[in-house]
Order: sequence, then C-alpha cells, then structure tokens
Amino acid sequence: MGADGWARSFFDTAATWWGRPVVRDIDRARAAGIEAMCGPGAKRVLELGAGGGATAAAAADLGHSVTAVELSPVRAAYARELAADRDVTVVEGDFYTVELDGAFDCVAYWNGFGIGDDADQRRLLRRVATTWLAPGGSVILEVFSPWRWARDAGRTEVVPRDTALVHALDYDPVRSRFVDRWWQEGDEARSITQSGRCYSPADLLLLLETTGLEPADGDLLDSNTQVSAGLWHASGYRVRLVAAG
Ligand SMILES: C[S@@+](CC[C@H](N)C(=O)[O-])C[C@H]1O[C@@H](n2cnc3c(N)ncnc32)[C@H](O)[C@@H]1O
Repeated sequence: MGADGWARSFFDTAATWWGRPVVRDIDRARAAGIEAMCGPGAKRVLELGAGGGATAAAAADLGHSVTAVELSPVRAAYARELAADRDVTVVEGDFYTVELDGAFDCVAYWNGFGIGDDADQRRLLRRVATTWLAPGGSVILEVFSPWRWARDAGRTEVVPRDTALVHALDYDPVRSRFVDRWWQEGDEARSITQSGRCYSPADLLLLLETTGLEPADGDLLDSNTQVSAGLWHASGYRVRLVAAG
C-alpha cells in the first residue's frame, strides 16, 4: 500500500478540507509523553506520518530536536509553516523508502500506525529497528483499538468548516479495520475514504514477531492496565517498544 495506495490523495484532499493545523492540547500531551514514556532529557525524535506538524512543533517547544516525515505535499507544507523558528526538519517523503541521516532516541507514530496492511506495518517496524533507532532508544506507537470503532460503525457526524463536512464511520470486522468516509455537505459523490488496521494488544504482539522490536517493560498484555476498562472505550492506545533483546 504506502505511497502507491490511497493515503497521499486522501490526506492531500482532507488537509485542504480540514484546514491549517494549530498546536492543540492533544499535541502538547503527546509531546509531554515523550519524556514520560522514554525518560528525562531532550531527545532526537523521528516522527513518522507527521501530518500538519502540530505534534512535532509541540515536541520542539519542549526542547526536542524533531525530524518529521510526511507523505502528503499539502500537509508537509503546513508542517513547514509550523516548523519555522523551531528545531523541526520536515521531510516530504514516503517512510517505506525515505533515506534519513542519523539515529533517533525516540521514533514516534501518533494516530496513524495501521494505514497499511500487516506486511506493510512489519516492513515499517523493521526499518525503524534496523535503520533509525539509536542504541537504547524507544519507539512510541499509537495503535488503533478495535472495540470503539466497531461500536461506532454506522454513526455519522457533521463537522463544521467553511463548507461543512460529513463524516461517516464504519468498521470491517473481517480485516479489523476502521473505515471512515468524508465529504463536503451536498457533494457525497466526491467522498474520500481512509481506513486503518485496529490491533488488540494480543494482535500487536503477533505483529511484532520478526520485526526486531518488543514491548518495553515486559509483556504488553500484563503491563497494559487499560485492557479491562480504557481500551473498551478508547479509539487507540499508546505503547513503548524497544529493540528485542
Ligand atoms: C491519521 S494521519 C495522522 C497525522 C498526525 N500524526 C496527527 O496525529 O495529526 C496519518 C498521516 O500519515 C501520513 N502517511 C501515510 N502514509 C505515509 C507514508 N508512507 N510515509 C509518510 N507519511 C505517511 C499521512 O499522509 C497522514 O498525514
């Protein structure tokens, strides 16, 4: 899938509909999560699928040095605007093939891991493990969780914008992927659709096999205290991975 699939055209179009990004509380919370999850101190951060660059900007505001990789030219241009006067290098490119200098203390993928199929995700994680992760470094993944998406299937909401947007949520139970479709009100014929693979923690453990990465702090199932309550309601969860020992 990757750059040859639907992602570039979906995110180019969606970015113009959604509008310019601003740094929000969720971006600041993610940025604070870098030290909370990976330990104290400024880090060399690689952000994959950085979108409009708001989280990269928030991370730089906390003293981190950020390289932000983004496929969509429209979103990369937004990210460059937010990067001005900040320690953020925006690389417009495909994370399956892009060549980057240096190693990173933290590789983060916020709200996007799962755009490809399982083979794509494994390919990406192997690149992270073998090419980008510095010794002792950590990976932060935000992983889509299936249950909330399954419950929301069939729901439609209207999102206010200059031209209002209709957002229709669905879920494919065979492939365990959320499917969401967007269109400008009155123009459903030109709708655009994205989907993402949802992994339970048990699924994620299977995916990680042969990638060279494993959950930090032991077993993901035992250490993930959110399983009984939080995961049932959340659209995603965060895990820290390290090089497999
Ligand atoms: C769901 S969005 C999340 C964006 C951002 N992380 C955030 O939370 O706002 C996923 C992003 O990954 C980017 N992306 C998808 N496939 C990519 C690839 N192969 N290489 C680089 N970026 C990619 C998309 O263009 C999109 O901006």
